[in-house]
Amino acid sequence: MDRFVIEGPCRLEGTVRVGGAKNAVLPLMAAALLARGESIIENVPDLRDVHTFIKLLELLGARCDLAGGTLRVDTARAEGVEAPYDLVRTMRASIYVLGPLLAARGRARVSLPGGCAWGPRPVNLHLEGLRQLGAEIDLERGYIMASAPQGLRAGRFRFEPSSVGATANVLMAAALADGTTELLNCAIEPEVTVLAEALREAGARIEGIGTNTLTVDGVPRLRPLRHAVIPDRIEAGTFMAAAALTGGRITLTGCRCAHLDACIAVLKAMGCDVETAEDAITVAAPGRLAPVEVVTRPYPGFPTDMQAQIMAATTLAAGTSFMTDTIYPDRFMHVAELRRLGADVRLDGATAIVFGVERLQGAPVMATDLRASAALILAGLAAHGETIVRRVYHIDRGYERIERRLAQLGARIRRVAE
Ligand code: UD1
Repeated sequence: MDRFVIEGPCRLEGTVRVGGAKNAVLPLMAAALLARGESIIENVPDLRDVHTFIKLLELLGARCDLAGGTLRVDTARAEGVEAPYDLVRTMRASIYVLGPLLAARGRARVSLPGGCAWGPRPVNLHLEGLRQLGAEIDLERGYIMASAPQGLRAGRFRFEPSSVGATANVLMAAALADGTTELLNCAIEPEVTVLAEALREAGARIEGIGTNTLTVDGVPRLRPLRHAVIPDRIEAGTFMAAAALTGGRITLTGCRCAHLDACIAVLKAMGCDVETAEDAITVAAPGRLAPVEVVTRPYPGFPTDMQAQIMAATTLAAGTSFMTDTIYPDRFMHVAELRRLGADVRLDGATAIVFGVERLQGAPVMATDLRASAALILAGLAAHGETIVRRVYHIDRGYERIERRLAQLGARIRRVAE
């Protein structure tokens, strides 16, 4: 297991290119199962989760080839229907194959994902939505056993609460269901929208893309997909938070500014100077950050996936910040680790109260999940002395070569094999 050794404090300065979005590429990879033939996905980031998903598609009989950021998924001989526990437990997004397998093969056997580091993460909406399309679903020995012997038929379903994963899963299934499906209160995260667009280009008949109501006129088959992955708004936000926390100035290129409105608003409220161009953003930190009040909400609200990184920044703000996570009220595993670096954070239900301190002090800390690891690295960059972040395999799931890119911006960070 690798760890990062960071010498702080440092001020990050320079330009970094944003990669393709992890949360957008995984559903696109699953969607390849809806068609026979070779789907081509471009701007694919080289991430551990992408390789895990490739393994899953190969287990299902697909042939995958990832080279130079282009992924080819050939489903000509993909007859498998099982996503085993060993893969699903390392990557919850494996559940994305459920809808496509049901729609394209008539059955699926997918391990139940189980909880995660910050609490239970139910999949009831995935299952209920698919049942509304005529799927028969049972749970057996930790597996979701789903079948639609006569094929899926159109239905009507409302997602409550709004769910990115369930919207994507049910949408993919509805693309091949017989008749017109109406999906209400759909997630409108850019990762869902890009999936819907890719499906439409492959022959799916979907109306209302980008809104909360999707109407899907099922078609018998789709053509293979050909689509480029959108820039990762969470990776972009993480670098923006890094600029803020280290008193630096970072220009991000290859990003989609419109997807970052909520993050930009928070950074501005913290006193950062944020300049946007067509596909670039420059964030320059003030002398000292101002405290903020942040509440996570479904898109276009502030993303829960940025809560930990912004919290890291608020630890050094001149005053008291409030961070409330309405999506995952228990997503605060990073709090105890930030405290080890000298942060003053208290928890009150789903709200973290962050009393800004003058300086952080380096210490050994443990990464507990993907975004928490990012927050700890950022805090380590700003802390005085040596910070060791253990269990960095979490970060490799969602950030491509983060230590090299931070080093290029002036960070003193190295990866050490344990
Ligand atoms: C996706 C993202 C994750 C992000 C999350 C919220 C991927 C691979 N992961 O996860 O990074 O943090 O969106 O933006 O894209 N819920 C239910 N029942 C369900 C499904 C969800 O009650 O069947 C609840 C969840 O507990 C949560 C809320 O709905 O409170 C939103 O979760 P959801 O959008 O489904 O998250 P994921 O798709 O799992």
